[in-house]
Amino acid sequence: MDSLLKAVPATGRKAGAHGHDGLFITFEGGEGVGKSTQIRLLADRLKSLGHAVRVSREPGGTPGAEAVRHVLLDEAALESFGPALEAMLFAAARSDHVEQVIRPALARGETMLVDRFMDSTRVYQGVSGDLDPGFVSALERVAIHGTVPDLTIILDLDPETGLSRAHARRAENTAQDRFEKETVAVHEARRTAFRAIAEAEPERCRIIDASADPETVGEAVWAHVAPLVTADDDDEAPAT
Ligand code: TYD
Repeated sequence: MDSLLKAVPATGRKAGAHGHDGLFITFEGGEGVGKSTQIRLLADRLKSLGHAVRVSREPGGTPGAEAVRHVLLDEAALESFGPALEAMLFAAARSDHVEQVIRPALARGETMLVDRFMDSTRVYQGVSGDLDPGFVSALERVAIHGTVPDLTIILDLDPETGLSRAHARRAENTAQDRFEKETVAVHEARRTAFRAIAEAEPERCRIIDASADPETVGEAVWAHVAPLVTADDDDEAPAT
């Protein structure tokens, strides 16, 4: 964390501690934790301070990866897939997203906010999918190709609350996807796995209690992002 805190140039973006000029922030967590709301709040805040912000999601983010998403979230299509094929499809979609969107945006010095990234594969496929951890980490290496997030916000919420939020959201929308249909015990295991990642990588990851109202959670998120952008950004927007 120290290296991130002190590497803040006058442009308002941290120097590329992970080999890129922009700022790469990922949001992770279980179902219904409020990632998209928090990403929207943070994007608005950063834009109002003059930052070039790009928002994306996984699986997806490019036409090819969105096509893979369609397959991955379709229960009928997935019936015949084993866990290795599923994990490889998430990795394939991620690789395309990294090469076509994330890496170019970071090279331009933009701030990239991504809804789910490599930790979702570690947790969803790694914990629930019955895969060899070596296989999952090899896929990760190939998919991200060194593009590691500067900051990963893990929104933490008890699964019962998260699932009821997700169900309420789906009711107005579409049917729940197959990941939402799993048992509370599976969701608990994922929560534990996200927490374990945060413990193992405290420099990159921050756990945030997502049970409060969106504005309160947003302030907690901002407390972790603010040190990565210039101090004057709080007072006035830099010229773009
Ligand atoms: P989505 O509708 O985007 O759900 P959420 O709002 O919870 O992000 O669906 C994405 C689903 O895909 C989600 O249940 C988690 C799962 N997933 C994986 O299993 N592995 C992955 O690598 C990613 C990115 C997502």
